[in-house]
Amino acid sequence: MLKVRGLEVFYGPIRAVRGVDLDIEAGEIIALIGANGAGKTTTVRAIAGLATYKGSISYDGTTLTPNSAEFNLRAGLAMVPEGRGILGRMTVEDNLSMGTYCRKDRAQAAKDVVEMYERFPILSARRHSLANLLSGGEQQMLAIARALLSRPRLLLLDEPSLGLAPKTTTAVFELISSLRRDGLTVLLVEQKARQTLKIADRAYLLETGRVVMSGQAQNLANDSLMSQAFLGGATTP
Ligand SMILES: Nc1ncnc2c1ncn2[C@@H]1O[C@H](COP(=O)(O)OP(=O)(O)OP(=O)(O)O)[C@@H](O)[C@H]1O
Ligand SMILES: [Mg+2]
Repeated sequence: MLKVRGLEVFYGPIRAVRGVDLDIEAGEIIALIGANGAGKTTTVRAIAGLATYKGSISYDGTTLTPNSAEFNLRAGLAMVPEGRGILGRMTVEDNLSMGTYCRKDRAQAAKDVVEMYERFPILSARRHSLANLLSGGEQQMLAIARALLSRPRLLLLDEPSLGLAPKTTTAVFELISSLRRDGLTVLLVEQKARQTLKIADRAYLLETGRVVMSGQAQNLANDSLMSQAFLGGATTP
């Protein structure tokens, strides 16, 4: 579904992503794991069409163009950015409507908003509240719901658990698993490696802009190098 080859992204003289290759097959949850500054956000922003890059990214056989976010969104690639990117001074409802802006099927889009309220009753209860009055977990649900309203086929999630309590993190991870069961493909950027590897099919480990390890999530979870670097010592039993 997505093929990334030799991806390089620069910030002025800084080479933040240094030749990343990455593949995503339809129906997978792919994890992109790495420490602060490894290049995770830069990689997903390039995939979403929000950066200038070298190398190639193809989606369903079409080669994407750098900085083509609107095209990518319409083609079914939606991103929930790091920090969620919701508009705090707008209501929950207005944030959700924004998610449908790229849709031409307005009647169906309106129905999808109603369906989103059914899926996330908390958003329905708070639909007229300002988004910044929601809890962190609720804001993450709102950000995901908004992205889903563009009807993506591939959802890019940049550290959805950032700043969330453990229980809320678990709820967000369960939501991600349920989205995949419904047929969505997910690229999940995370630092919480252990939990991420439990729900992912395959994973890539980034270090200073390069993929240093990749493979089946379960194998990575049991890898001693990975364990020392990211899983806090002991390997999973
Ligand atoms: N706008 C920018 N200008 C200059 N350098 C940047 C910019 N954004 C990121 N960088 C640098 O690029 C590198 C990769 O950053 P990136 O945000 O992609 O990392 P990350 O893996 O998402 O980290 P984190 O886990 O902290 O979100 C880092 O060295 C960072 O300092
Ligand atoms: Mg980041």
